[in-house]
Amino acid sequence: MCGIFGIVTDKEQALGALLTEAAQRLTYRGYDSVGAATINGKTIDLRKDKGRVKDVAARYNFAEMRGTRGITQLRWATFGEPSQVNSQPHLDSDGDLVGAHNGNVVNNVELRQQFMAEGMTVRSMNDGESCVHAVERYVDRGYDLLEAIRRAYGDLQGDYSFVIGRADDDKLYAIKKGSGLVVGIGEGFTCVSSDLPSILPLTRTVVRLQDGEIITLAADRVELHSVKDGAPIARPPELITETMEAVQKGGYAHFMLKEIHEQSQVAREVLHMLDGSPDVAAVVEKMKNARNLYFIGCGTSYHACLAGAVYFAQLAGRAAIPVVAPQFMPQYGPTINSQDVGLFVSQSGETKDVLNALEGAEARGMAAYGLANVIGSTLTRATVCSLPLCCGYEISVPATKTFTNQVVTFLYLAYRLAGRDTAELGRIPALMDQTLAMVADQVEKLASEINTWNDLYCLGYGATYPIALEGALKLKEITYAHCEGMLSTEFKHGPLSAVSQGFPILFAAGPLDTPLIVSGLNEVTCRGARAIAIGQDDPRLRANASEVIAIPGSTPEIAALLAVLPLQLLSYHMSVLRGFDPDFPRNLSKTLTVD
Ligand code: AGP
Repeated sequence: MCGIFGIVTDKEQALGALLTEAAQRLTYRGYDSVGAATINGKTIDLRKDKGRVKDVAARYNFAEMRGTRGITQLRWATFGEPSQVNSQPHLDSDGDLVGAHNGNVVNNVELRQQFMAEGMTVRSMNDGESCVHAVERYVDRGYDLLEAIRRAYGDLQGDYSFVIGRADDDKLYAIKKGSGLVVGIGEGFTCVSSDLPSILPLTRTVVRLQDGEIITLAADRVELHSVKDGAPIARPPELITETMEAVQKGGYAHFMLKEIHEQSQVAREVLHMLDGSPDVAAVVEKMKNARNLYFIGCGTSYHACLAGAVYFAQLAGRAAIPVVAPQFMPQYGPTINSQDVGLFVSQSGETKDVLNALEGAEARGMAAYGLANVIGSTLTRATVCSLPLCCGYEISVPATKTFTNQVVTFLYLAYRLAGRDTAELGRIPALMDQTLAMVADQVEKLASEINTWNDLYCLGYGATYPIALEGALKLKEITYAHCEGMLSTEFKHGPLSAVSQGFPILFAAGPLDTPLIVSGLNEVTCRGARAIAIGQDDPRLRANASEVIAIPGSTPEIAALLAVLPLQLLSYHMSVLRGFDPDFPRNLSKTLTVD
């Protein structure tokens, strides 16, 4: 998830160190490249490359960069591999406009072709460059810069924000559409950034932008306009009083809670990315024609593989084999050949168990694709092609937003394989927000009521079976209680003996499987269990469960995805109630690079 920062000052000065510091303060968002540009009179000084902030800043001597205006950007690769040319900021064709963006311009591929056909110099694959050329297009047609930016907004599809400046001007301009943007106002300067941590060391007086707004930054003032009609907008600045740590957590008590609430936004971003990705059609075609299709991952990522296999079979009639990575070679190694296709799934892209399976599969000629969050990770480099999860940095050890985006991606691929209209999936982000709003209070209360139990079960069936496993993993991971995830119908084959009065059993109830879930509920409630059904509101669940956590109505596949949200929240609250830190559970690491 990229980050941008721009500053306008009232006198020419060394800006390199300030830009480096601002970039450093956005690194929590995750990045693979960094760049800085300063504007000094008519001269633009642009330095950028892939790598860590301190390494790139030292290698390119950012410290000597001077000017009255400066822009820095951290890039998290989506369009175009991490490289010097794809790093941001970018210049326009003749080098007098410089800009950088955060987010995804989903029609980047078409736009680049148009810009080249119009005679512009397109240097990179990156969609940040498309933002600059989209403005250049209207500047070349004679519009002033503000009007050119307004018009560019109409051409750039997706969720993004960008900042741009021109050599013979004394201002910077920034626009917001989907991605966050905050303006800072200080003594002798104004600045703009994707997030507060890069602004607060400079000033605590800020203006938060809303979608469809454009801001003009001069050294002594800011002016806000509506993109729609150019009308000025009056918004008084606010004073930020929170600590830096609280600001980084976005007002949430923990990163996990913040990341749970980011799920709708990152789902929107991954859907945009998939719609615009030139790789999706090739991946789908390859999967369609595979002799055997494998989905491979560990932990949470393996649960996403299980969900993917259900979706592929149910929606597209395509069998796929989900496998826990270390079991892949022992179980299937001897059967693998070049007609098989594997999708290797990993948030970090560095999980050794997954990389071992990948190495074995590639040695046997399998076509290997990746689904990873960290672009530039070993997995993304070692596969034929890797789809990005577009989640930005996931700080909390328990995976939340990366899981839901893995599942959303599988669902999207299944739709494409089935030839179904993926527009239907555009409802997912709003449904996620609705789910969180509907369940929040009830789940918090439930957490306090069942928190004394150190033994729980989480059951599901069909599309909700992987969700039950994931819910149980979340509970184990951060509450340190024993929670077993299981197919609901398997419970009677042994675990039923554990049931005693009040014993908590969570059921992820899919709308297609209500009769089976109802029988599972009765099996345990008649023995004294507290059976909690999570699913679309249904009188049959209400009549048979001890209680129902209702989620919004949708399709069976989306309902399964939504059911994980209350389970994430329940784990979170139980962990906090037990006095643990859900972000950093004992004994666990975010990236497991050992066998
Ligand atoms: C998830 O909450 C866990 N932290 C863990 O199971 C994780 O999913 C697993 O280690 C795999 O990691 P990866 O997705 O980075 O490969």
